[in-house]
Amino acid sequence: MSSNVKADYSTVSAIAKFIRARTSIKPEVGIICGSGLGKLADSVKNPVVIKYEEIPNFPRVTVDGHQGNLVFGTIGTKNVVMMQGRFHMYEGYSRHEVALPIRLMKLLGVTTLLVSNAAGGLNANYKLGDLVIIKDHISFPGLSLNNVLVGANDADFGVRFIATSDAYSTDLRQLALSIAKEQNVADIVHQGVYVHVGGPNYESPAECKMLRMLGADVVGMSTVPEVLIARHCDLKVFAVSLVTNISILNEESKEKANHEEVLSTAAIRTITLQKIFEEMIKRM
Ligand code: ADE
Repeated sequence: MSSNVKADYSTVSAIAKFIRARTSIKPEVGIICGSGLGKLADSVKNPVVIKYEEIPNFPRVTVDGHQGNLVFGTIGTKNVVMMQGRFHMYEGYSRHEVALPIRLMKLLGVTTLLVSNAAGGLNANYKLGDLVIIKDHISFPGLSLNNVLVGANDADFGVRFIATSDAYSTDLRQLALSIAKEQNVADIVHQGVYVHVGGPNYESPAECKMLRMLGADVVGMSTVPEVLIARHCDLKVFAVSLVTNISILNEESKEKANHEEVLSTAAIRTITLQKIFEEMIKRM
């Protein structure tokens, strides 16, 4: 967990050198698997798997449902690298550790990042297992100086002040929507606003009501830090939430959010998401 490792250019370059000595695959697409979505890696052909623990200065995973591998290979005609297991701030990782894998992808040649996550559904029209293409976000940690970009700016990666109005590529969102139609899953696919909370507790009913009032459709504990780092170093981004639990707005409800439900719902929809990602990558 939290270490003194910095995600600065020289540290990340040294890790990139280590990776290049292990595989000649030069990825152009990076993919981050959300909770329980590690099986997305099944779509990677001729995989070269490098465990996080083998990589110098790379963080290790702590959460169930997250393996700890970088998987290099091809999907369609494109070279990809997939993160099977991500790093959340609530696990105690520093902003450098959260930033490091994304900057590594950048230095390895990635130009587009596809992100998936498990999220709570706030919008009353959403059902368990729906997919929500993220069109915008609200970040509570990000707005309150727990922002992954806080600290001296690393100009080797990007500028000090980045815009976030175009964080989620319109082209990629349109592409995903048209693929969902072709694959006859449009009825379970939406576009919405993701609200990023610190976690690790699931939100209380009063918090859920507040988040909904603020305009959020889904809630989760990840994605935004990675997206900010990706946009800082000019990666094109697509992000999608899988609704793995419906947020509870009623204090008298006997239902409770739990990690097992998150993992079992994720398992049901992995194939649907895998097919959409595969087709997107082919057509990018
Ligand atoms: N991940 C999955 N469900 C979630 C929820 N309700 N809140 C935050 N993160 C989640």
